[in-house]
Amino acid sequence: MRKKNVEMIALFLTGVVSLFIIINKNDAKEDNVNRKRKQTEELLPNQTDFPSTETLQPPSSHCQPNMSAYKLPEFSTLPDHIKDFLLYQHCKSFPMILDVPDKCGGAQSSADVFLLLVIKSSPENYDRREVLRKTWAEERLHKGVWIRRVFIIGTSKSGFEKRRMNRLLKLENNENKDILQWDFNDSFFNLTLKQILFLEWMDRRCPNARFLLNGDDDIFANTFNMIEYLQGQEDNDGSRHLFTGHIIQNEGPIRKPSSKYYVPVQVQKSESYPPYCGGGGFLLSGFTARTIYNMSHSVILLPIDDVYIGMCLEKAGLKPTSHFGVRTTGLNIPAGNVDKFDPCYYREIILVHRFLPHMIFVMWEEIQNPNLRCAKTNVNRTKEQGV
Ligand SMILES: *[C@@H]1O[C@H](CO)[C@@H](O)[C@H](O)[C@H]1NC(C)=O
Ligand SMILES: *[C@@H]1O[C@H](CO)[C@@H](O)[C@H](O)[C@H]1NC(C)=O
Ligand SMILES: *[C@@H]1O[C@H](CO)[C@@H](O)[C@H](O)[C@H]1NC(C)=O
Ligand SMILES: *[C@@H]1O[C@H](CO)[C@@H](O)[C@H](O)[C@H]1NC(C)=O
Ligand SMILES: *[C@@H]1O[C@H](CO)[C@@H](O)[C@H](O)[C@H]1NC(C)=O
Ligand SMILES: *[C@@H]1O[C@H](CO)[C@@H](O)[C@H](O)[C@H]1NC(C)=O
Repeated sequence: MRKKNVEMIALFLTGVVSLFIIINKNDAKEDNVNRKRKQTEELLPNQTDFPSTETLQPPSSHCQPNMSAYKLPEFSTLPDHIKDFLLYQHCKSFPMILDVPDKCGGAQSSADVFLLLVIKSSPENYDRREVLRKTWAEERLHKGVWIRRVFIIGTSKSGFEKRRMNRLLKLENNENKDILQWDFNDSFFNLTLKQILFLEWMDRRCPNARFLLNGDDDIFANTFNMIEYLQGQEDNDGSRHLFTGHIIQNEGPIRKPSSKYYVPVQVQKSESYPPYCGGGGFLLSGFTARTIYNMSHSVILLPIDDVYIGMCLEKAGLKPTSHFGVRTTGLNIPAGNVDKFDPCYYREIILVHRFLPHMIFVMWEEIQNPNLRCAKTNVNRTKEQGV
């Protein structure tokens, strides 16, 4: 433990020194230096006191492990990521590394954002982000309303590799201004944490965004249809409950240790989950997002993020609904010699999970092709064939 700490401090110091060298190397002119330093301070908000060496600690070590977890029955037999989860479950606050404070034009003006695309990504997924920026997640004014985009990201790797990845992300963000990054390990079991950190950010920076799409970076979303659907919500301008997607009901924790979704009794005793929407992608109103954030203060963390959101809804007495156009388990296209990527199947949906980046490109072009001729019944046909 102590050795690890010393190592981390050393690494951190190296980081600080390199940062300092970079700042000084790149900028010969005095005012330039100051500007850069100011930027750096903004990017590393209050997480460190550079001059003081005594309190120099890696930010995430501020949250101490909960040692009582070791006393849980059979703790030592649990897989490492679950032990980790139990030890750090109470840690809900991590420093931001990258922010886009003006994404919504300031908290006051944030009602001007009609649809905020909140896309869960990971440091490595640069190519996916690039494609989304140019396709369905492009920021734009459509039918008189604004679509804005943020990627939510943690960190990956450690030491030198982590710092190098973070520098790349910083460059990417300088160019695109769409990355929110926090200093926590971007692992599957930390996805709930990522969602809560986003909601906390929203509360501060973008509290009045009207609607949100929350989803993965490997989905194809028809944001044109989404706007149409949301504008068609009578008497809901984002200030009432809306939560819709691919609904999952009557399920409970998977107790098979080899599963990615394994949740042992030490994490959750109950054998059932509340109804929830598959985390690949769902739509919600600003009101519902704020409510989920409120509930998250008192709902104990569960590592499966979409189920956790379902728990927050349940606690607030709200229900998720099912949207036919959301296919987080993929689109079941009728068998035969049909092209699986026939754009006609994608024109009427609003969201499909698991798309390779190049197919997103092709599909985005094709669904906008005014000459595309489709039989009227595609979506209904797939429905009849048991999707
Ligand atoms: C740093 O903390 C001070 C007070 O604790 C606060 O006034 C300031 O806004 C913070 N800066 C950032 C960038 O968060
Ligand atoms: C620490 O872990 C124990 C056992 O899981 C749990 O009962 C307790 O609530 C946890 N404490 C905190 C602060 O999370
Ligand atoms: C992050 O979490 C994953 C999965 O639990 C683990 O394999 C990896 O070692 C962790 N990385 C760091 C730097 O802690
Ligand atoms: C979540 O991230 C924190 C901070 O990096 C890390 O300590 C913890 O091990 C991670 N939890 C899991 C379950 O990966
Ligand atoms: C969240 O909680 C705060 C204070 O507890 C309350 O003022 C606010 O109305 C709540 N918001 C929602 C959307 O429930
Ligand atoms: C699909 O079916 C629904 C009823 O299930 C109907 O209202 C709708 O008009 C149909 N759409 C097309 C394109 O046929």
